[in-house]
Amino acid sequence: MRSLVVGGAGFIGSHLVGALVSRGPVTVYDDLSVGHRAWLAPHLDAGRAEFVVGDALDLPRLTEVARGHDVAFHLAANPEARHGLSRTRLDLEQGTTTCYHALEACRLAGVPRFVLSSSGTVYGDTARVCREEDLGALPISLYGASKLACEALTSAFVECFGLEARIFRFGNVVGPHGTHGAALDFLRKLERDGTTLEVLGDGKQRKPYLHVSDCVAGILHGLDHGAARLEIYNLTPPDTTTVARIAELCVAASPHPGARIHYTGGDRGWPGDIPRSMMAPDKLAAAGFRVRLTSDAAVRRAVGELAGEVFGARARPLEPGPG
Ligand SMILES: NC(=O)c1ccc[n+]([C@@H]2O[C@H](COP(=O)([O-])OP(=O)(O)OC[C@H]3O[C@@H](n4cnc5c(N)ncnc54)[C@H](O)[C@@H]3O)[C@@H](O)[C@H]2O)c1
Repeated sequence: MRSLVVGGAGFIGSHLVGALVSRGPVTVYDDLSVGHRAWLAPHLDAGRAEFVVGDALDLPRLTEVARGHDVAFHLAANPEARHGLSRTRLDLEQGTTTCYHALEACRLAGVPRFVLSSSGTVYGDTARVCREEDLGALPISLYGASKLACEALTSAFVECFGLEARIFRFGNVVGPHGTHGAALDFLRKLERDGTTLEVLGDGKQRKPYLHVSDCVAGILHGLDHGAARLEIYNLTPPDTTTVARIAELCVAASPHPGARIHYTGGDRGWPGDIPRSMMAPDKLAAAGFRVRLTSDAAVRRAVGELAGEVFGARARPLEPGPG
C-alpha cells in the first residue's frame, strides 16, 4: 500500500507515518508550518518515507505528488479551534479548502481511497452522548464548521466520483509530539511561571481524550474494515476527563509541584469551546476495535510524555493511577 499523508509531519501525522511504513512506501506532504521533519527522521533515513515540502493550497503540486498512491490521509488543518476567533478565514482556507484540494487531487490523480481526520466538534454543544448519525446540534466554532464542511465534501466526492472514504471524528488527541491542546498549554505555562497556572474557564469542562497510539490504531482498523464506500467513525474513548484533572496532573509532573491553579471562571475556555462532550465509539467497537486507554489513562500517560518533552530531566514522574 502506497500512502500519501498530507500534514504528515504534525502531531498525529508523524505517529501515523510510523505505523504506515510497515504497509509500504509513504509520502509526506507538509508545509512545515507546524510539523517537524525531525519527527519523521527514522523513516526518512531508512528510505521508508519520502518528504515533500508543499502547501495543500497548491492544488497542481499536490495533484502531481498524489499520482501513484493507493490512499491519501488528509491531516493538514488549523488544529486549534480558538485560533478561528482572531483569524476568521483560517479554518475556511486551512481546513475546508485544503480538504477540497486533497479530495480533488485524489480525483485528478486517480487515488482511490481517502481518509479524513474530522472531530467531535461537528456535533456542536449538546448534552447527548453523540453517535455517528447524530448531527442535530450544529458546530459552534469555525473549526467545527470547517470539519462539517470537509465531511460533506468527502461524501459528495464519494458519491459523484467513486472515491472510497473513511471519516474519523476524533476526541481530543494527546501524546508525544503534541503541538497544541490543554496539557501542552499548561506545561508550557508552568515552564514560564512555576508559581501560578492560569486555566481558562472553571476547570469543569469535561471531554474525551484519546491517546495518539489509539488514534493511529483506530484509523488503520477503520481503514481495513467497513463495507460501505463511505464509513464514518467516532474514534474516542467512551469516558471523559475534566480540565481540572489535566491541570492537576500537569502541576504534579512539572518541577513546580507547589504551583497554584487559578481558574478564570465561566463554563468554557473561549467562545466556541464545547464545555462537555461525549461520543459513543460503538460503531468501531462493532467492527472489532476498542481503545486501549481510557480518557483518564490517556491523559495521565500523555502528561508524563509531554512533561518529558517540555522539562527534560526536570520532569517529575507521576504516580501510577487508575484506568
Ligand atoms: N489533535 C487533536 O486533538 C485533534 C482532534 C480532532 C481532530 N484533529 C484533526 O487531526 C488533524 C491533525 O491534527 P494534529 O493535532 O496532528 O495537528 P498538527 O498541527 O500537529 O498537524 C497538522 C500538520 O499539517 C501541516 N499543515 C498545516 N497546513 C498545511 C498546508 N496548508 N499545507 C501542508 N501542510 C499543512 C502542519 O505543518 C502540520 O504538520 C487535523 O486535521 C486536526 O484538525 C486533531
